[in-house]
Amino acid sequence: MLKDKHLIDPMDFTIGQLEEIFKLAHQIIENPKEYSHICDGKILATLFYEPSTRTRFSFEAAMMRLGGNILGFSEPNSSSASKGETLADTIKMVSIYSDIITMRHPREGSARVASMYSEVPVINAGDGGHQHPTQTLTDLLTIETLKGSLSNQTIGLCGDLKYGRTVHSLIKAMSRYEGNKFVLISPKELQIPDYIRDEILKKNNIEFKEVERLEDVIEEVDILYMTRIQKERFFNEKEYLRLKDSYILDMDKMNLAKEDMIVMHPLPRVNEIAVEVDSDKRAAYFKQAEYGMYARMALICKLLGVC
Ligand code: CP
Repeated sequence: MLKDKHLIDPMDFTIGQLEEIFKLAHQIIENPKEYSHICDGKILATLFYEPSTRTRFSFEAAMMRLGGNILGFSEPNSSSASKGETLADTIKMVSIYSDIITMRHPREGSARVASMYSEVPVINAGDGGHQHPTQTLTDLLTIETLKGSLSNQTIGLCGDLKYGRTVHSLIKAMSRYEGNKFVLISPKELQIPDYIRDEILKKNNIEFKEVERLEDVIEEVDILYMTRIQKERFFNEKEYLRLKDSYILDMDKMNLAKEDMIVMHPLPRVNEIAVEVDSDKRAAYFKQAEYGMYARMALICKLLGVC
């Protein structure tokens, strides 16, 4: 049962609970009308202390397509946070006004703190460079649908593996399924954090390698997960400028890849995937964003206990 649970970390749900969400997401995709009033009278609060397009809009679209209502802010300066209100007080208030809360915040651990003060389920929509569990639900639903299985995949993760929270969440989540291998492609400066390498990959004897050149390994992977260099998390602009064009996926590189590989990206992209790749049948990133809305519809239903 997922009713009244929080989702802060991708590991908060068991594999069985994730399967429940994916099954419901597929049912919603098949028959959206059946779910169009399931959340009548319910309110979702979207508290975004950092910019977003996909996560906020897909949560809001999800709740509206379920018949519910939304409130919230996309800019913290329009809330009393700008007057010095603590996160704890904001959450206490918002959990009186709403039935479920989703929050994006620049501070790592902030979603966990919010869940401690909330009377209603809290969903982490991204906490600093830490975790982004609903992006992981989106990614898993995409892989399960387009590749047919969450097991026995070789997953190439490319770009900013240090600050990219979607990467950290996806490695954690895919490590739980049998036979998955990781090819980690990044400049030395942007390699995965030690806790992911040691506590997730090494500790669980998961096969992985770390390389610098995409063209050397692209032919091996079943899923290529491209990421943006996370400008907002760099302390030093010169370092960002030096690394920002480390990887550009274009058709020359795509021609080296498997015919049935899929290219994923949490988006937004800057220039790490050339626009010419969009029309290749293996480009899955816009479909992935669409699955994000269905994954969030299913999640909202489950946490509210309406399905
Ligand atoms: N993937 C993702 O989190 O996109 P946004 O930053 O636009 O929400």
